Amino acid sequence: MKYPGQTMQVQAVLVALYFYLICPANIIGLWWAVGSPLVMDPNTICRKSRRLAGKQHNICKNEQEIVREITKGARLALSECQYQFAARHWNCTTARRSFGKILRRDLRETAFVYAITAAGVTYSVTQACSAGSLLQCTCDRNHIRDKSTDGQWAWGGCGDDVDFGYLKSREFMDARKKKRCDITTKIRMHNNEAGRLAVKNYMRRVCKCHGLSGSCTLQTCWRKMPLFRHVGNRLKEKFKGAAKVIISNDGLHVIPEGDTIKKPDVTDLIYSENSPDFCRPSRKAGSLGTKGRICDIYSRGVGGCDVLCCNRGYKKGYVTLRENCKCRFIWCCDVICQECVHNKTIYTCL
Ligand SMILES: *[C@@H]1O[C@H](CO)[C@@H](O)[C@H](O)[C@H]1NC(C)=O
Ligand SMILES: *[C@@H]1O[C@H](CO)[C@@H](O)[C@H](O)[C@H]1NC(C)=O
Repeated sequence: MKYPGQTMQVQAVLVALYFYLICPANIIGLWWAVGSPLVMDPNTICRKSRRLAGKQHNICKNEQEIVREITKGARLALSECQYQFAARHWNCTTARRSFGKILRRDLRETAFVYAITAAGVTYSVTQACSAGSLLQCTCDRNHIRDKSTDGQWAWGGCGDDVDFGYLKSREFMDARKKKRCDITTKIRMHNNEAGRLAVKNYMRRVCKCHGLSGSCTLQTCWRKMPLFRHVGNRLKEKFKGAAKVIISNDGLHVIPEGDTIKKPDVTDLIYSENSPDFCRPSRKAGSLGTKGRICDIYSRGVGGCDVLCCNRGYKKGYVTLRENCKCRFIWCCDVICQECVHNKTIYTCL
């Protein structure tokens, strides 16, 4: 006798095997799909990747400290994903039956998750370089040659060496055994790169003034990465404008699905499958539905009760909030607060 659940499990195993053996570029999908990998320790990630591509294996074997930063980067990416998607039908939940599914598909959401993860890894590794916590890299002192012509400022200090983080992110996330692979892999590589570029292409210059009492006759400047929130915002915009692609006849390239669609450039996100609406729970679609989600009754757009609840309606409820209030400063140096309890009205989807 066969149960539907069993068939599903067999399918899941086959899918996992497929990714594992045929198309190892999906390692990151693997670590997110197996268990709750974002809270996994790095060694677990590496144990899972034992049979994977050479570069990844090398990092796991010889660069434990990089693996630690990669894990941090993945966590950073997840929390940014949840921030950016908080008001959407799919909210970047890591519930296994949703997240694992999404990662194995080729939706816009999948594109965002891969891109933000590649960005997060670039970011964390680069930050570790600047902080001096890795032997392989240091902060960037190489910009002295770029001295400005007007003489108002000079490169100096200790900047972020994004190239190293970029490289490690690429080695780890784009590692694969075979050079050519299916459309899914091509899309994934493309989106990973778009994520990395959302960090690398937006380095900013920050400066410090010198001179008598802040007169700023000379400034020292260094290169710093953008705030990760800004990386998230940028990729969210790319998510909205993502291009749907298909594989070309020769099987070598991904091309826009319609002739009228602008060819995506390296910084754009691409996908090949339309997203479900995520309104109702569906195991197959990896959707948890939006029942019970808190919605905003004053908004007509994304996150508003009509949209978030898919017009099913919503109900009023209350939550009790406890917070510090009526704080007084007592000389010197205490702050004494009372605890206020208030009853906040919320609306949740039916
Ligand atoms: C995300 O959505 C799921 C169900 O749709 C819900 O259970 C979960 O609490 C939501 N997470 C957040 C942070 O709102
Ligand atoms: C909050 O207020 C509502 C109506 O004013 C009341 O029905 C409810 O019991 C209150 N909840 C709490 C936890 O005080």
